[in-house]
Amino acid sequence: MPEMPLIFREISAMRQKVAQWRAAGETVALIPTMGALHAGHVSLVEASRAHARRAIVSIFVNPTQFAPNEDFSAYPRTFDADLAKLAEVGCDGCFAPTPGEMYPQGFSTQVIPGGPALAGLEDRFRPDHFAGVAQVVAKLLNQAQADCAFFGEKDFQQLAVIRRMAADLDMSTRIFGVPTRRETDGLAMSSRNVYLTAPERALAVTLSRVLRASAETIKAGAPVNEVVARASREIEAAGFALDYFEARNADSLAPAASLADGPIRLLVAARLGKTRLIDNWAVE
Ligand code: PAF
Repeated sequence: MPEMPLIFREISAMRQKVAQWRAAGETVALIPTMGALHAGHVSLVEASRAHARRAIVSIFVNPTQFAPNEDFSAYPRTFDADLAKLAEVGCDGCFAPTPGEMYPQGFSTQVIPGGPALAGLEDRFRPDHFAGVAQVVAKLLNQAQADCAFFGEKDFQQLAVIRRMAADLDMSTRIFGVPTRRETDGLAMSSRNVYLTAPERALAVTLSRVLRASAETIKAGAPVNEVVARASREIEAAGFALDYFEARNADSLAPAASLADGPIRLLVAARLGKTRLIDNWAVE
């Protein structure tokens, strides 16, 4: 039976343990999540092993990053199964605060990210989302005082927002991005995939298939705008409501019109029934 991670409900308890580890010369990684853990999250813990001796996964479904019309109350909450997965991967700690611990009475500080948060991708469809993400991630980084923190590349714009915020606010925790973990057919792993019906799940693979083919075509020299237009048509023809399919510079997220504007990252967001899926692919 694998050893269960230490569970911290309070910031002070986590801080005390992190301080002990650090006093013993051990480095600490933080992996912020909203739970409903899958192999993608497990790969973040595994990636942290190359950089830190100890790993803490935080599980907090952060209300401030959901719009009123989004799935905050329906978001999957699977704490016991999450803990079992963390034990399996040898995670040392799980920080699972209550909303009151994170946002006590009187809480009133906003974090308003700029730069990549205004790139015209997710922010066009979820205008307050990155302010909520930046707020909670700033808090988590301050709370844990970890040496490094790990985020999935699947939320590519989010990763850029967090990198920018950590640099701008002189945060000492090093931010790492980890490549997206995929199902065997190529669908990017996501806690929201559980919302897909069986026919939607079969269709969902279209996104990664079109992304990969588009990346290869661009790499082979096809005009970026033509490839993007064709990919958008293909995704809509498959039955998705497309929010965007864009070619961007992977570092700045500025629009990329040709290979010279690269390194290019293709990014897509599309809705299938009630589920909104995002994914991205490097042109390399
Ligand atoms: O990517 C997520 O799961 C969340 O946005 C994060 C980074 C844990 C903040 O709540």
